[in-house]
Amino acid sequence: MLVHAIPTNVTYDFALDVRAGLTQPDQKELPSKYLYDDVGSALFEVISHLPEYGLTRADERLLRRHASEIVDRVAGPVSVAELGSGSGRKTRYLLEAFCRRQRTSYYPVEISHSALVMCERELSDIESISIVGFEREYLDGLLEVAAYRKPGHHLCVLFLGSTIGNFDRTAGIRFLSDVRNILKPGDSLLLGTDLEKPHSQLIRAYDDELGVTAAFNLNLLARANRELGSDFDLSKFVHTAKVNPEARSVEMHLESTCRQTVDIPASEIKVEFAAGETIWTESSHKYSADEIDGIARRAGFRCEVQWIDEQWPFAENLLIAE
Ligand code: TRP
Repeated sequence: MLVHAIPTNVTYDFALDVRAGLTQPDQKELPSKYLYDDVGSALFEVISHLPEYGLTRADERLLRRHASEIVDRVAGPVSVAELGSGSGRKTRYLLEAFCRRQRTSYYPVEISHSALVMCERELSDIESISIVGFEREYLDGLLEVAAYRKPGHHLCVLFLGSTIGNFDRTAGIRFLSDVRNILKPGDSLLLGTDLEKPHSQLIRAYDDELGVTAAFNLNLLARANRELGSDFDLSKFVHTAKVNPEARSVEMHLESTCRQTVDIPASEIKVEFAAGETIWTESSHKYSADEIDGIARRAGFRCEVQWIDEQWPFAENLLIAE
């Protein structure tokens, strides 16, 4: 696999984003994309196996069960781009179905180098596949993929695992519109959305008994210590997950258990934390199955079909660019 090099300096961006996020006057925040370094990607892989976190398995079940039906609904010939491929495990079923129909190019777009490498290892044995990975942010990567479009080929974009839920609703629609603007009419977007479920189930999913999700979230501070030379004392922060009923989301925070000051040399800041003060790291918005078509239409798509898992409320939505 050809993994394209990133021209930007990731550590420098991280230092700047940490500075911007931790000097906010009200709620301190850190962008969730930095959760996925090598350690974070490995921890997320473990989260996806936890009994409390049914999301990834629901996604995988739907893709396994409905792969041929999904492929039948996507006009060919087609090239497949995936935004945030992760290990690529659940994408196998779809790619096998696409490749049974005809030779297919697969372009995973992923900011985690180790996830890209894993993804290639996992999928390269599929017959009639060619894989070109892009170590890029989603839209930058998709723009490059679109520039590779072969004449007469459709693009099918995969945005699985409910990553859309990590945007708030308005930003989510804006992101889908940005994707739509890179596509042509008749191209498709397979969108995974986690559906609303009881609050107690959501809290367990995002604050598991073993503490893997806590380790995943705290790794953001450990990463800052490794890469930015900061002195976060991880024993003085705890992971919290709370439901925000108005936003219909679960919010993840790192809460300072005491009053403390943290020095972050690469960001050229010293940050004061009050006891109980939090850093907001991620929100995961939940949807109702009925609202997806409206969202799709506002972004220039229509929702053609929806497949919903019976065990864990989760929907795979096939959107077609209008
Ligand atoms: N973004 C994913 C989700 O919303 C990944 C995730 C799972 C996550 N658990 C988390 C992100 C805890 C931050 C903190 O499901």
